[in-house]
Amino acid sequence: MDPDGLNGTWQGAGCRVSWSEATWDRPHFGGAVVQITSVEVEVGCSDSLAPLMEMWRKAGVVFVSCRIPASRVAEIIWMQQQGLQVIETALYPELSFTGAPTWSTTCTAEPAQAQEVALLSQMAEGTFGLERLHADPRVPNSVANRRYGGWVTSSFGHASQRLWSMKDETGKIVGFFVTQVQADGYWYWHLNGIAPEMQGRGVGRQVWRAMLLRSRADGALGVRTCVTARNLRVLRLYWGLGFGFAEPAMTLHAILGDIRP
Ligand SMILES: CC(C)(COP(=O)(O)OP(=O)(O)OC[C@H]1O[C@@H](n2cnc3c(N)ncnc32)[C@H](O)[C@@H]1OP(=O)(O)O)[C@@H](O)C(=O)NCCC(=O)NCCS
Repeated sequence: MDPDGLNGTWQGAGCRVSWSEATWDRPHFGGAVVQITSVEVEVGCSDSLAPLMEMWRKAGVVFVSCRIPASRVAEIIWMQQQGLQVIETALYPELSFTGAPTWSTTCTAEPAQAQEVALLSQMAEGTFGLERLHADPRVPNSVANRRYGGWVTSSFGHASQRLWSMKDETGKIVGFFVTQVQADGYWYWHLNGIAPEMQGRGVGRQVWRAMLLRSRADGALGVRTCVTARNLRVLRLYWGLGFGFAEPAMTLHAILGDIRP
């Protein structure tokens, strides 16, 4: 464990918990954010997370999150007993590139230019509403909005992430993507969306096809991503594009202090 308790592993009598600080979230939450990265519990475990929670509080942690495979029911039950709440089911759409693409698109995917970043960031601030932070009624929407806008800004010029401008046939920016190449040659799609005023008109389908074609042309072996199960619109897109689904996860949150928007 590090001296301030923001990164570490704790072994109880019947459980083992590892965590790390999500440093990128600190400016948006007005305090530290810890993500529990792994949990293992024995059935009937009587260990309490209270001492860890207290240590985190003292270290300025305001928010704790955890994403765990949905099959780990013993851990999910135990975490709820310890004060974390289930917020969503997360689904993992995945598509392997085999054979030639069968669709075309009216849109393009181009690496973002410096002068486009502010617009893309503003788009990201205004477009999300269903994912875990907007879904958790204890997190102010302004915090969630700024977090996604900030992510888009920091993905430009990032060491491993790439920001994309998605444009329609007139060259107008209609959406954004943040991607990352993974060790197995797949591209992970971190964040994506369509300008709020353009949604529900078929633009998403064209933009998603454009990103698939671009990923493939740039050497991806396939793509994978994560979406909340309540986002039926984007799930219809993935379903229509032939994506399969890997094992779902549950997302849990705990609020430990004042989240300051
Ligand atoms: C999800 C999103 C990308 C879809 O793009 P879009 O341009 O709005 O969607 P499209 O018009 O291309 O339609 C895509 C599918 O969603 C359906 N859809 C569109 N608007 C809908 C609505 N209001 N309610 C339910 N379904 C809807 C369409 O019918 C279509 O499915 P179908 O072909 O089976 O009929 C877009 O709405 C968006 O950016 N949302 C906010 C950010 C987000 O959710 N990002 C993705 C995951 S984090």
